[in-house]
Amino acid sequence: MQTDNTENLMDTPTHISIIMDGNGRWAKKQGKMRLFGHNAGRESVRACTEYCAEKGVRYLSLFAFSEENWGRPVDEVAGLMDLLGRCMLEERDTLMNNNVRFQVIGDRTRLSDALRKGVEALEKETAPNTGLTLVIMLSYSGKWDILQAAQRYAADCLAAGKTLPLDETGFSTYLATAGIPDPDLLIRTSGEQRISNYMLWQCAYTEFYYTPVLWPDFRKTDLEQALLSYATRERRYGKVE
Ligand code: FPP
Repeated sequence: MQTDNTENLMDTPTHISIIMDGNGRWAKKQGKMRLFGHNAGRESVRACTEYCAEKGVRYLSLFAFSEENWGRPVDEVAGLMDLLGRCMLEERDTLMNNNVRFQVIGDRTRLSDALRKGVEALEKETAPNTGLTLVIMLSYSGKWDILQAAQRYAADCLAAGKTLPLDETGFSTYLATAGIPDPDLLIRTSGEQRISNYMLWQCAYTEFYYTPVLWPDFRKTDLEQALLSYATRERRYGKVE
């Protein structure tokens, strides 16, 4: 029988974020096209979502598609968008049955009308759910987020006819992630150890965890390893004990 090592963890993160990496390499190892890896990665998304919902994690955010990813081959981009659209339709019942709220964060102006409507419909339908919030970071980048926040703040100043007061808390309300606490734990799969223009502002004091496991192989036991590592961290936020 598999033991649940995280059962007694006092310190479950409120917000876990994952840079899902390694789909292409996973597919290549099997002599398959990259999209085969992205499709397989869906199973890992399901496993992590179920686990977090069960454990009472409040937010799980997944870096599904970066602003930079628009520069990938047209077929891969189209395949990924199609996959995301299908997932939203096909996982609807699972989200509802598990009381999961669904949210997409990123530059929606770059999404097709059909995908944008699908996103909006699922967000609306799952909005009353009170369990885990599953956040899909789609067409997102950290610099884009900071820039759009600055532009919206500037627009508010223009409208007010004066420079409005601004502090870190106030600036956070302009970010696309407004209302969501900063990630406590950021996991990146596939052995890469960089932030890749992800939540640059929000990860100021996030604990990082890297694993060599490729995303399509990432399962509950791998998430448990990350949580065990997180439980040993001493978060000082730049202060001393
Ligand atoms: C990075 O691997 C992965 C992506 C750019 C796409 C992630 C998308 C999914 C896992 C599809 C399912 C998602 C949801 C939210 C249902 P990579 O292509 O950069 O891999 P590589 O570094 O090995 O080339």
